[in-house]
Amino acid sequence: MTDTDTRRAPTIAGTDRVLIFDTTLRDGEQSPGATMTHEEKLEIAQLLDEMGVDIIEAGFPIASEGDFNAVSEIAKLARSATICGLARANPKDIDRCWEAVKHARSPRIHTFIGTSPLHRAIPNLTMDEMADRIHETVTHARNLCDNVQWSPMDATRTEWDYLKRTVEIAIKAGATTINIPDTVGYTAPVESADLIARLIAEVPGGDEVIFATHCHNDLGMATANSLAAVAGGARQVECTINGLGERAGNTALEEIVMALKVRHDIMPWSTGVDTTKIMNISRRVAAVSGFSVQHNKAIVGKNAFAHESGIHQDGMLKNAETFEIMRPEDVGLAATNIVLGKHSGRAALRAKLKDLGYELADNQLNDMFVRFKALADRKKEVFDDDLVALMRDTTVETPDDRIQVKFLRVICGTEAPQSADLTLTIDGVDQQVTATGDGPVDATFAAIKQLFPHDVDLQLYQVHAVTEGTDAQATVSVRLEEDGRIATGQAADTDTVVASCKAYVTALNRLLVRRERTAPDADVKAVSYKDVG
Ligand code: KIV
Ligand code: ZN
Repeated sequence: MTDTDTRRAPTIAGTDRVLIFDTTLRDGEQSPGATMTHEEKLEIAQLLDEMGVDIIEAGFPIASEGDFNAVSEIAKLARSATICGLARANPKDIDRCWEAVKHARSPRIHTFIGTSPLHRAIPNLTMDEMADRIHETVTHARNLCDNVQWSPMDATRTEWDYLKRTVEIAIKAGATTINIPDTVGYTAPVESADLIARLIAEVPGGDEVIFATHCHNDLGMATANSLAAVAGGARQVECTINGLGERAGNTALEEIVMALKVRHDIMPWSTGVDTTKIMNISRRVAAVSGFSVQHNKAIVGKNAFAHESGIHQDGMLKNAETFEIMRPEDVGLAATNIVLGKHSGRAALRAKLKDLGYELADNQLNDMFVRFKALADRKKEVFDDDLVALMRDTTVETPDDRIQVKFLRVICGTEAPQSADLTLTIDGVDQQVTATGDGPVDATFAAIKQLFPHDVDLQLYQVHAVTEGTDAQATVSVRLEEDGRIATGQAADTDTVVASCKAYVTALNRLLVRRERTAPDADVKAVSYKDVG
């Protein structure tokens, strides 16, 4: 176990340290469409570990081979964070979870059961039967691992007396952290603070464990509810990068960490997170999950530090504090926006990318330099956002890609039908077709389908202008679904139709890989953490 996790555990409620428990790879990744590849999960885990997150919930090991492998590998790689896996309230889940997390320097088993009336009805257990189940499963987990977290799912809609009773049973059985989930985002700040304070005060042994808060954002109150819980005595906040998560998402890690930093005067609690690493991980999570960050999102939105109105700009030039409560550098945004152009060299590109949080190996830099030059030839000025878009572009072809885009020309305008003349290299052979459609993108997608027949559901097609101006790049995200398997692709180009074509083909290539790999994502769907068994 890590120093923060164990030695502080019994006493932390009285300290100013709040543990940050990140569940981007479990609750975040479980949101429909946010599926990440194995390599992407490892990359995000490494970034979380490096930024000083205390506990990483790396996945739900029983859900699939893919989840199990990701959790075990993350457990082996983590250098300082505690690695946690989720398990339902049965020995099989808990054993599987332990098999995955046991490789970690500091492993944790997180087991849970839904305690509210609606959730009790699912496994059809009486209150007494459920109480016994909690005792047995927490004891079982504790026999395997000395760091056990227990959660009464839907705690905020559980009867007070029953909640108190179950928490007491879990503590007596050896749980070291009690997490209080607001599973459907129902609570409000006053209630959230009060619930934690009363549990600590009234449950025997409540002052000897760490209480955690786990909020969902259905009413837009997840951050406020989590901070209120901390005021009530919680010393672990469960959250995700960018607030990624099912429905309206989970509490956003960056909001908690920055709120505690900026308003330390009235919220005197601290975290171990290096805030300058926030922007980089936010961008990576957006890229690999396919869930872009809304422009006006607190802390990590594109506009969070942008000042457009004349009055604001004037004030900012005189004194940045006029309209800014934190500095862009505090969250890892480069203080200056040096613009690169076609005469910029490799060294300038490397320095700029480092500023943006990307440290590239020489071969990666060479590849990026070629793509940067191609863009700079078409675009006078290459801004930070253009470079981020290039880095996020997932269309870098690998020899394993079965399909590659070779040539595309579209005819569009007021006269229908629009048409696309497309050449794809499929399994090494060039194939050409001309297809028509309702607009240039529709025609292009129709051409892809004719050249490589497939039956998938286009779940998401999103276009973002990366910067302003008519020569701006567009970033296109495409999400495809086939029998429960989901794959995303992203591409950036000054031509929106070209970006669309590349993003679609990237997603399709990924889907083909998943199809071959015994459908791990389909397994995740089959075993949801909500089927309490
Ligand atoms: O929201 C929730 O209740 C959960 C639990 C599994 C902790 O994610
Ligand atoms: Zn949750």
